[in-house]
Amino acid sequence: MKNKPSFLFFFLFFFSYFHAISSTNLIHQTCKRCSKTDPNLSYNFCVASLQSSPESRGASNLRQLGSISIKLIKRNVTGTRHFIKELLIIKNKTLTPYQKACLKDCMELYSDAVSTIEETMEAYKSKHYADANVELSSVVDAATSCEDGFGERKDVVSPLTKRNKDVFQLSAISLSIINMLINSFELIN
Ligand SMILES: *[C@@H]1O[C@H](CO)[C@@H](O)[C@H](O)[C@H]1NC(C)=O
Ligand SMILES: *[C@@H]1O[C@H](CO)[C@@H](O)[C@H](O)[C@H]1NC(C)=O
Ligand SMILES: *[C@@H]1O[C@H](CO)[C@@H](O)[C@H](O)[C@H]1NC(C)=O
Repeated sequence: MKNKPSFLFFFLFFFSYFHAISSTNLIHQTCKRCSKTDPNLSYNFCVASLQSSPESRGASNLRQLGSISIKLIKRNVTGTRHFIKELLIIKNKTLTPYQKACLKDCMELYSDAVSTIEETMEAYKSKHYADANVELSSVVDAATSCEDGFGERKDVVSPLTKRNKDVFQLSAISLSIINMLINSFELIN
């Protein structure tokens, strides 16, 4: 009976310890920091995106979360590229020449983005964070340029607005995580 309180203390200690490093907590805390530093990034979008990856359940540190976020971008840009390709085929007869030209530009931008995000992942893996940062920025530029292309004429609506926005926001998550990693590296060294 005498040992009971300390056992309880121990139990609570370990419970809260493991709870603190649980992946859900990690995601929430990271997204809180990301959305605070980048007003363009929605906290809810960040949490939902990271949690949508099955890999995130096993994530126990920021570096793993960064890798997951880059994989999410890769899936997004690959999916968007495929979507544009399909759109050009299926709607070949109904799209105006202007819309087709915009979509073809986007197709090119996203084809480049697919290889750029692969390079981003390589740079990230080898902890070349500055390079990863530069490459990610060009993925953001691709999404922005694609969307801006449609905006040049008021009567043309972009069929890619949501997808471009997703890529934009997912990239903001990765950029934010990479900056956190760079800063913590500077603190240690
Ligand atoms: C937010 O997005 C706009 C473009 O949509 C950009 O001009 C601005 O620099 C972004 N702000 C941050 C903090 O990234
Ligand atoms: C892109 O990412 C967003 C946010 O995680 C998700 O809702 C959407 O389904 C993804 N799209 C593709 C094509 O993977
Ligand atoms: C669209 O149709 C034109 C002629 O009808 C054809 O030359 C062109 O290859 C088609 N494009 C695609 C992407 O299917």
